[in-house]
Amino acid sequence: MTQVFINGARDDLNVREFQSLDPSIQELILAATEARKQAYCPYSNFAVGAALRTSDGTIYSGCNIENGAYATCICAERTAAVKAISEGKRDFVACAVVAQQDNGFTTPCGVCRQFLSEFVNGKDIPLYAAKPTNLPLRVLCTSVLQLLPNGFSFANGK
Ligand code: THU
Repeated sequence: MTQVFINGARDDLNVREFQSLDPSIQELILAATEARKQAYCPYSNFAVGAALRTSDGTIYSGCNIENGAYATCICAERTAAVKAISEGKRDFVACAVVAQQDNGFTTPCGVCRQFLSEFVNGKDIPLYAAKPTNLPLRVLCTSVLQLLPNGFSFANGK
């Protein structure tokens, strides 16, 4: 059998049907899909939505927000994260990212991987990457630590 690799993940092991996922995961992916509709991305035309569940069960969602000064653009994942953190929720337990990419799935950029890893409370957390359409919806199931092996932690730097 030919194995397909998607963003470094083995397709046969890590890609699941949306309908087979736990309802709480489906809810998180749908929240990211909804947040994506608010994306402000006139420069890239690449809309992204993200959703984070915190340890108390709350979902915080966000979209990418671009700017004519490109360096100030913020990704959907960090929009969701700063919303949660600024509401006092620092303990993330799951993340979903939704974008329409023709080949493969959209997974967080390096900056967002590092940013998220600060708030997983020493654990690994699942990360679900999906597309907004493409039925039957397939979902790449990975995790923050799979995406950021050996990432920097300040505790390791002291
Ligand atoms: N982007 C995200 O918001 N999240 C990702 O996971 C990948 C990239 C945004 C940044 C920029 O606004 C646009 O997508 C194109 O890079």
